[in-house]
Amino acid sequence: MKRIILTGLLMLAGVVLAADKHMGVATCASSVCHGSSAERSGANIYHSEYVIWGQRDPHAGAYNTLLNSDSKDIAAKLGIGPAHEAKVCLACHSDYVPKAQRGPRFQLTDGVGCEACHGGSQRWLSSHTEKGVTHEDNIARGLTLLQDADVRASVCVACHVGDSERLASHDIMGAGHPRLQFELATYSRLWPSHHRDDDAYRARKQSPQSLQLWSAGQLRSARNVLEGLRGQQFMATPLWPELAFFDCHACHAPMNADKWQPRAAGKLRPGAVRLNDSSLLMVGWMLEASDPAAAARWKTGVAGLHAASQQGREAIQQASSALIRQIDDSLLQLRDGKLSAPDAGQLFQRIKADTLDATFNDYMTAEQVLMVMALLTEQLPGDSAALDGLYKSLSDQHRFRAEEFLRAMRQYDGSR
Ligand code: HEC
Ligand code: HEC
Ligand code: HEC
Ligand code: HEC
Repeated sequence: MKRIILTGLLMLAGVVLAADKHMGVATCASSVCHGSSAERSGANIYHSEYVIWGQRDPHAGAYNTLLNSDSKDIAAKLGIGPAHEAKVCLACHSDYVPKAQRGPRFQLTDGVGCEACHGGSQRWLSSHTEKGVTHEDNIARGLTLLQDADVRASVCVACHVGDSERLASHDIMGAGHPRLQFELATYSRLWPSHHRDDDAYRARKQSPQSLQLWSAGQLRSARNVLEGLRGQQFMATPLWPELAFFDCHACHAPMNADKWQPRAAGKLRPGAVRLNDSSLLMVGWMLEASDPAAAARWKTGVAGLHAASQQGREAIQQASSALIRQIDDSLLQLRDGKLSAPDAGQLFQRIKADTLDATFNDYMTAEQVLMVMALLTEQLPGDSAALDGLYKSLSDQHRFRAEEFLRAMRQYDGSR
């Protein structure tokens, strides 16, 4: 186990650096490999992963999406030529590795293929089926350690939140791209999984539980957002910062002075455009339920980031860097087992209390709160139908009213 964790750590650095060739979905798809038309019993794996992916996984159609009329509209408005040839779109809608890393059967048209998540198979493709070859051997040859919550989070978040190579910018949104929202545990469920998560699997591999996935996903989301804030992306044009880093509804909402409230997480003047801090608030709650001293430091840091957002680029870079250092500490502690995923009951109480105290009033945080409440409701006694009111209060982002969300939360609380 120790060795696997060590290789995993090295590999995390390798998520960016690995230069192994991606051999293409066709190399996995044979019926004796992963393209069996039916699940094979008596085997560790289904052998029908390619079929599940091809028939039910939205990732298989990600490239084709770039050919549809919505994408044509988006690309025409942006003036970037055909979407399916534009790097800015392919970066997330395909396995867009550099040309030198594309094997003979690799095709961009495969969309988000096996190796976009599992890693380039050049060094493990032929060996991973040989007798006596262990999972550790495969990992050492570049197979991604997806069973680890943090590694998995960094893979998914790269496209679903963005990273230094991929940005769902305000230009793209303005042209009609859907607003990205992501929470790893929830999205893992929405996604048609192609592995058999049974006792035999858990004897072979770790299988992170929902709060472990939630924690890893929030830490990685927050980290990527902060990297964006301190990197080149944030001030790409001299006049405006990149608006995708701000709360969308701060600007895209009816004018209404009643809406303004002092935010506990940072002192902003009325009228200031607030950074989208939803993942930062989630990390704060996670820490409160597992490491209160770290949570207090984190809150001060987040308040400092909001203050810095009114001061200029250098101040933002400093405040982001400090928060990134704290995230990296927490990630190391999670790895060493010194910090565990939060206790469901404590997390529930913290988030509920802060929601009822109206410490936030924005849609994007409310959306994240609903996703984690849904996970927690499954684990705690009570009636999950009571979540309906919360879902309803968030059903239309353009008509969202924080008071309705609060009222739904009070009702939800009363019903438990
Ligand atoms: C290379 C980029 C990339 C990676 C890596 C990636 N995704 Fe996606 N994902 C996409 C794109 C693009 C779409 C939209 C596909 C479409 O409809 O065209 C998508 C769609 C989805 C959807 C469907 C969303 C919906 O609204 O129905 C889920 C669920 C999902 N991804 C989960 C995950 C998970 C979990 C991971 C990590 C294990 C992951 N994704 C990794 C790019 C990626
Ligand atoms: C940062 C990664 C990223 C970039 C860059 C990106 N997309 Fe997407 N796109 C996604 C993800 C993730 C989804 C799925 C969103 C969800 O449901 O959560 C998506 C969804 C879409 C959808 C809606 C798909 C559906 O099934 O309804 C369209 C259309 C689309 N993208 C087109 C484009 C085009 C055109 C470009 C280039 C201008 C582009 N995308 C750039 C990640 C990205
Ligand atoms: C969006 C990311 C993603 C894509 C795309 C993807 N996988 Fe997976 N795959 C996962 C995750 C996450 C797991 C579960 C963690 C694990 O066991 O490694 C998994 C598990 C598996 C397993 C089970 C491993 C075991 O030990 O039981 C196999 C086999 C597999 N994938 C093959 C494929 C093949 C073949 C393709 C392409 C047709 C593919 N995957 C595409 C993310 C992905
Ligand atoms: C600082 C204010 C601000 C923020 C924050 C902001 N936008 Fe915008 N957005 C604008 C302005 C200004 C326009 C141009 C409006 C016009 O053309 O009349 C615009 C245009 C758009 C459009 C085109 C439709 C329209 O209303 O013109 C969309 C869609 C959009 N933004 C989505 C988003 C999303 C999604 C986010 C968050 C990721 C976001 N915006 C964040 C100010 C903002």
